Amino acid sequence: MSFILQVSNLVKSFGSLTAVRDVSFEIRQGTCFGLLGPNGAGKTTTIEMMEGIKTPDAGTIMYQGEALGTQFRNEAGIMFQNTALQDFITVREIMIQFSRFYPDTASIDELAEQFALHDFLDQDTRKLSGGQKQRLLLAMALINKPKIMFLDEPTTGLDPQSRRNLWRQVQQVKEEGATILLTTHYMEEAYELCDEIAIMDHGRIIAHDAPDALLAAHFDDVVVQIQAADIPRDIGEREFQAIYRNDSAHIVTGDVNRTIEHLLHLDIPLNHLRIRARNLEDLFLELTGKELRG
Ligand SMILES: Nc1ncnc2c1ncn2[C@@H]1O[C@H](COP(=O)(O)OP(=O)(O)O)[C@@H](O)[C@H]1O
Ligand SMILES: [Mg+2]
Repeated sequence: MSFILQVSNLVKSFGSLTAVRDVSFEIRQGTCFGLLGPNGAGKTTTIEMMEGIKTPDAGTIMYQGEALGTQFRNEAGIMFQNTALQDFITVREIMIQFSRFYPDTASIDELAEQFALHDFLDQDTRKLSGGQKQRLLLAMALINKPKIMFLDEPTTGLDPQSRRNLWRQVQQVKEEGATILLTTHYMEEAYELCDEIAIMDHGRIIAHDAPDALLAAHFDDVVVQIQAADIPRDIGEREFQAIYRNDSAHIVTGDVNRTIEHLLHLDIPLNHLRIRARNLEDLFLELTGKELRG
């Protein structure tokens, strides 16, 4: 599989703040590549340099082996993190307006069908719900039948149901052959959608691989979760080095049998016990000492 985009040694500063520090990665054709990181990590700055919107201070970006140019602009679909939709304009009008920027475009009716926008085509864009607006922005990003799509936090602010719907639609876009670069601070989203992820913090990539490979490389243990009310904090911390988060005590263990025997020995109620695999959130915490959503 060949690389559609290659990013080498990107750097971008705003005054004294270096938002992106020497970032390099390559995106394989037909895959979904995720930039995962907390707010302020440098995801938007990175993606905007790749979109050709921001100029890097240093580094190179190659699209199909060449510098970004007309071909790239015609073949890239962009869904911005914050797009102010024009007021007093209908969904259909904004899609028509957008399609005029490109030589070869998709059918607006087909896009409306695919993204369940048909009923809103003649409605003012201001009247759309959060989920409808994100679907419209995704449809607009597809108007030029892009080979590469940039989605900057496409589901931030959506309720879980709308988020899952958008995930399905992104999956479908990928199945139709587009390559996707996605940023997110939701680890479930990165895990669900991405073939490869790069975890960013403070402008740097701190880990990069397929999600399961990242987890396998860093963890050979699991998390035993117990309701916090069932295990006094001093006992949990002393006996199990438990981490208390929300209403649960999290015990990281490579030996579940021994941990459970120990809990039974201490008469800890296990009615709410849950065992889970380590996830990208745990990995971020392990690599940086802080929570992804903090
Ligand atoms: N135009 C700008 N001027 C000054 N600082 C900026 C600008 N854009 C981003 N930053 C800063 O750069 C850092 C990275 O921001 P950003 O790339 O938006 O992160 P993310 O998308 O991961 O939340 C943040 O500290 C942010 O405040
Ligand atoms: Mg951002």
